[in-house]
Amino acid sequence: MKSEDAPYGQYEDINADNRPSRFNKCLTDSISTTERIAHYDKWSNTYDEDMRSYGFTGPEITVEYMKRYFTDIHGRYLDCASGTGLLGVHIKELGYTDFHAIDASSVSLEKAKSRQAYSKLIQELITAEEKLSMEADTYDGLVSLACFASGHLEPDCVEDWCRIVKPGGIVLIVMNQRWLFHEPSYNEGKLEAAFQKRVNEGKWEFVVREQRDKYFAKDVAEVFVFKVK
Ligand SMILES: C[S@@+](CC[C@H](N)C(=O)[O-])C[C@H]1O[C@@H](n2cnc3c(N)ncnc32)[C@H](O)[C@@H]1O
Repeated sequence: MKSEDAPYGQYEDINADNRPSRFNKCLTDSISTTERIAHYDKWSNTYDEDMRSYGFTGPEITVEYMKRYFTDIHGRYLDCASGTGLLGVHIKELGYTDFHAIDASSVSLEKAKSRQAYSKLIQELITAEEKLSMEADTYDGLVSLACFASGHLEPDCVEDWCRIVKPGGIVLIVMNQRWLFHEPSYNEGKLEAAFQKRVNEGKWEFVVREQRDKYFAKDVAEVFVFKVK
């Protein structure tokens, strides 16, 4: 079966033996960031259908929180590691007028562009060491969906998110709970500690942490919301 034909929720488990190998390739620490991004470039064609085959509800869950916290539809927001722009579909529907997308994968960003939901596309690598190109206090809100994952964003990349989001702005993070246990740079509380560090330093304040089931196959979503100070 071609992945385009995969029925919604075909796979019940992220480790299903017959899952598309495209998942194995990117969800590992054993490839470099350059290799991972090149993989996303190649994958962008079938990424949406592959996610669909796991019953991925990340965009729908995330949008619920956007409605709650990104209340000014004319505000400026950032979809951080937007990929192909699965969130863009909802961004357009909700009528946001100034949503930027950033991702390191240029081919994924091309697909995101085709959603006609984003006012700006930024191809850039998000790291813990380098500042992003945006000015301080650019955004009223930043959303990151499915980007804290095995081998993906480094915990300390949130330092720069506190800089580019305005005081009073919201950082909304939605991720698969499994990576809090299975990703070596996040597990044993390391990711939560990186978030808490910014609370302790007075850079953002904790707003809410919630779990949502049926996020990706049987996996649970962790939702974190912070308000930048
Ligand atoms: C699992 S996809 C999630 C994409 C989108 N948010 C979604 O929910 O469909 C992860 C995305 O993160 C991007 N990515 C991974 N590491 C990155 C980095 N260090 N800087 C920028 N983008 C990165 C990949 O190119 C990919 O598009």
